[in-house]
Formats: sequence, C-alpha cells, structure tokens
Amino acid sequence: MKQIIPVASGKGGVGKTTTVANLGISLARKGKTVIMIDLDLGESNLHTVMGIKNIKPGLGHFINKREDSFESLIQETGFERLYLITGDSLFPGAANLPYFQKKKIIKSIRELTADYILLDIGSGSSYNVIDFFLISPENIIVTIPETTALLNAYSFLKNALYRLIYLALPPHSEERDYFNEFSRESIEKGENNLSNLVKVIGSFSEELSGRISHSLTQFSPHVIFNMSLNDDEKFITDKLIKITDKNLGKKIRTAGQIPWVNEMRRSSIIMKPYLQLYENSVYENAMNHLVSYIEENFKFRFN
Ligand SMILES: Nc1ncnc2c1ncn2[C@@H]1O[C@H](COP(=O)(O)OP(=O)(O)OP(=O)(O)O)[C@@H](O)[C@H]1O
Ligand SMILES: [Mg+2]
Repeated sequence: MKQIIPVASGKGGVGKTTTVANLGISLARKGKTVIMIDLDLGESNLHTVMGIKNIKPGLGHFINKREDSFESLIQETGFERLYLITGDSLFPGAANLPYFQKKKIIKSIRELTADYILLDIGSGSSYNVIDFFLISPENIIVTIPETTALLNAYSFLKNALYRLIYLALPPHSEERDYFNEFSRESIEKGENNLSNLVKVIGSFSEELSGRISHSLTQFSPHVIFNMSLNDDEKFITDKLIKITDKNLGKKIRTAGQIPWVNEMRRSSIIMKPYLQLYENSVYENAMNHLVSYIEENFKFRFN
C-alpha cells in the first residue's frame, strides 16, 4: 500500500520543487521509502534542487525514446531510501504531452512500489497539470500568502473540480452538453453551484451523479502556505479557505505553514537541499510538522 501525493500550484515560483525535495528528505529520514517524480514537463528542475546531474534517463526518455521500463528510470539521490525520477529537460517539447502518453505515465506511476510517491507538478491549469494533480484524490496545493498566488490557487482548485466532473461524463452525452452550459455561467455570483449541477446530472443518470458525488467528496486538497513571514498573515490564508468553501463547497485544510528562510538562496546557489545544509532550523521544524500532518491526515492508499 502506498500514498501518491501530487504537489501543484496555481502560480509559478511558490516553492513546489523546494517543498517536494525537502519533504522527501524528511520522510526518508523518518524511515519511509520515497520516490520523487519530476512531472513539471518543460521546466523540470527537481534534480538541480537535489544537486543531481541530469545524465541518466528520465521522463523525457520514456516519452521520446519509448523507454519501456518506467521502473528503470528510478535513480538514487545520495539519501538513504529517497529516490528520484527526473523530468524531461534534455528533450524539448514534452510539455505538450499527447493524451495516450499521459495515461501511460499515470498508469506507470500507480504501479511503482514505495511508501510515498511525491509528484512535483507544473503550475497553471493546463489539462496535463490538472490530470497529474487528480492522480490522487488527496493532494497538496502550494501557495504563498499573497493575493495573486491565493487567487491562482483558488482558480486552480476550481479548474480541477470541473475537470473531475467533466472526465466522468460520457462523451457526446446530454450530461456533457448540460455541463458545458453550466460552465459558461459564473459560480462566483452564487446562482450556480456544484451540488445543483450534480442534482441535474442525477435527473439524466442517478448512477452517474452518485459516482460524481462520491469523487467530489473524496477529493481532499490540502494547502501549504510557503514563504510565510509571520502569524499576521493568517487573515489572508483564511481567505482562500473561505472562498473555496463558499464557491466550490470544498473545505480545504492547511497542511502546513512553512517559513521564509533567507538561507534558501545559498541552498539554491550551491545546489544542495536546505535540509542537507542546515540542522535544527525553523524550516526543518516545519517540514517535520508537515510529515506528522501527512501521517495523521492523508488516508487514501493505492495498492
Ligand atoms: N521557504 C522558502 N524560503 C525562502 N525561499 C524559498 C522558500 N521556498 C522556496 N524558496 C525559493 O523560491 C524560489 C522558487 O522555488 P521553487 O523553484 O521551489 O518554486 P516552484 O513552485 O517549484 O517554481 P516553478 O513554478 O517554476 O516550478 C526558489 O528560488 C527557492 O529557492
Ligand atoms: Mg518547480
């Protein structure tokens, strides 16, 4: 039984890759086997944050050279129990992944063996990004306590919920026509909401609306507020939680508040993960809290 944890963000540069790298180290130090996968196709840099040269086959090979074995892409990181599958930075163009390739990658990820599989996903709301985010119903969205980043996080979650529903609807069906009509109206104005949508789908097919309701209930995004400066920022982080609850009917939970640390710049320049350089820091403390949060709150397991 393993846990797959996709890590995404609406806005770029909020710290997904840094968080995945250091969370991976923290989980491995707690005795867990962890595979980190760089799914930020087109912008892969998890290997650089880990201080690993990009010379072994990664996802780019799997996509372009039709490397058959996904497992053979797993490489060591120098940390016990912590492994990495690099992205595609040696192969331009992989960001525009055809649908069948995306399905193949998703299937291959589900077949891996580890305690935790952490997915560093790109930012934005393209279908590739959202479909990787939806690999697991329990996932992490990283943001920073700034209005633009929070609004992008909200839009990302809205797009993810819409995509979740859309993918469940049969192609060329009345349900899909209704969904397309629904999507043209604003849900922010309060006239439209997702539970009404599910009700109307129920009038076409009860079984389908039951399945969608179940997926919506199961969908549990957790949010990390990175680069946090002080507790006064709580008012702005609470805003994200409130608007997602009000407009999307989704109570997202805070997985952690990770402090801004000046020394992250040095970690990035000398290409060594923060936790390898600094011990007993506030950052390490926050990462350990995040590990405990995940152990206590993430329930979904894959076989
Ligand atoms: N807690 C932190 N304190 C200070 N700096 C941080 C922190 N977390 C990340 N950074 C810095 O912020 C920058 C962006 O981080 P990172 O590359 O991890 O973001 P990202 O979300 O993966 O970006 P992208 O969307 O481009 O993939 C980097 O320079 C990183 O060193
Ligand atoms: Mg990144």
